[in-house]
Amino acid sequence: RTARFTLDPAFTVGEVNPRLFGSFVEHLGRCVYTGVFEPGHPTADDAGLRQDVLELVRELGVTAIRYPGGNFVSGYKWEDSVGPVEDRPRRLDLAWRSTETNRFGLSEYIAFLKKIGPQAEPMMAVNLGTRGVAEALELQEYANHPSGTALSDLRAEHGDKDPFGIRLWCLGNEMDGPWQTGHKTAEEYGRIAAETARAMRQFDPGVELVACGSSGQSMETFAEWEATVLKETYDLVDHISLHAYYEPLDGDVDSFLASAVDMESFIENVVATCDHVGARLKSKKKINLSFDEWNVWYMAKTQAEVSALDWPEAPRLLEDNYSVMDAVVFGSLLIALLRHADRVTVACLAQLVNVIAPIMTEPGGPAWRQTTFFPFAQASRYGRGEVLDVRVDSPTYETRKYGEADLLHATAVRAEDGTVTVFAVNRSRTEALPLDVALNGLDLAEVVEHSALADADPDARNTLAEPERVAPHPVDGTALTDGRLTASLEPLSWNVIRLR
Ligand code: AHR
Repeated sequence: RTARFTLDPAFTVGEVNPRLFGSFVEHLGRCVYTGVFEPGHPTADDAGLRQDVLELVRELGVTAIRYPGGNFVSGYKWEDSVGPVEDRPRRLDLAWRSTETNRFGLSEYIAFLKKIGPQAEPMMAVNLGTRGVAEALELQEYANHPSGTALSDLRAEHGDKDPFGIRLWCLGNEMDGPWQTGHKTAEEYGRIAAETARAMRQFDPGVELVACGSSGQSMETFAEWEATVLKETYDLVDHISLHAYYEPLDGDVDSFLASAVDMESFIENVVATCDHVGARLKSKKKINLSFDEWNVWYMAKTQAEVSALDWPEAPRLLEDNYSVMDAVVFGSLLIALLRHADRVTVACLAQLVNVIAPIMTEPGGPAWRQTTFFPFAQASRYGRGEVLDVRVDSPTYETRKYGEADLLHATAVRAEDGTVTVFAVNRSRTEALPLDVALNGLDLAEVVEHSALADADPDARNTLAEPERVAPHPVDGTALTDGRLTASLEPLSWNVIRLR
């Protein structure tokens, strides 16, 4: 059976915020060390930043980059990470049972963003696990005050005369999780988040703040957590965070392929909770969503990996090697984010390099693209503009976790110049899916390109030995005639169809 939908510029979801294509650099494993930063690497610049990685980061099209954690931030002392490198202390990182050398710190992070280009924006997390209001304020002053105070002058003394201008801040990380250093109840966290937010706004009323939501929809405290935290912080924050990772569990590949069903319901449930609190407070303000950790992550094996560590520096951790199937699920997660662009105004792919990442590196060796690199780069490049409201009429299949799920998952974005890009995933493992799209009121004459990520072997991957085994390929036969787009979507495929 054919999958169908209609595109009509009169029916839209909302503008895509460029921050939807954010990512995340945590002091975890080799994301920083031998990932973005490797002094002595053949491509490293004077600052120790790998140019081969920087080029891939630019090609990926990332915008906001969240830093420095993640779980790491709950033990983070920002003072350790600034000033002369030789004076910076080595510290235990309790979150990842590793030793943090602080060779890369706040100034290096800002330099990294600058080298990516103007599209890169800082998104800095403060430690609300083991620290509080005072340290958050000190960090804000060090980073953002122009000059003439102890901390702003210290920054200048450290070589950074110009303030960093960090606008977007996360108030801690995953404070609902018992694994978090300094884990809190919703009431405790709501209070400290509100106090910190109030103080940070005293310093700068223009800051944008993200309160911690749940670290997963399956958390026992989910929704009650958001409601309690927002009751304290509603007028003081702009976003609430969501985190979600997906993997096939117990061999249940069909449910894994439908992971975006969970992601969409998570988003919709958080929106409902935010709006419920807003209604109770009789507020006109809307809280937006910062989906600041999302990805495919083979998490089940992580706990054992971490427990076995004896405080090494930059160990190989969470280095998942993604297959074509993983990239198709990943593409579907991107579609889910775009489909909710009206409320999801920040999203960060966790993470950027080596750690559950689209970019991999070898110390002293090359950098290469994982399969997941391609959907992200294409979505960031062509997914800018207005999301059109796509309601699919699709054949379905049965899943253990989500019941009946659509085989087609799709969205479409109309750029400012009127061109339209359709992003579509066929979840069927065995059958091609015929697609028929009615184009109403859109001045479109031709198919510019239909590109697909699919492979006869859905387990194909890019590796150090074979870094270019998988890449998107052009698809023939896609046509636009008499206001109808017709295409065939290969089994288990991520598709980008560009129309003008
Ligand atoms: O991204 C890896 C980890 O996942 C982060 O440190 C934490 O916030 C989440 O649990």
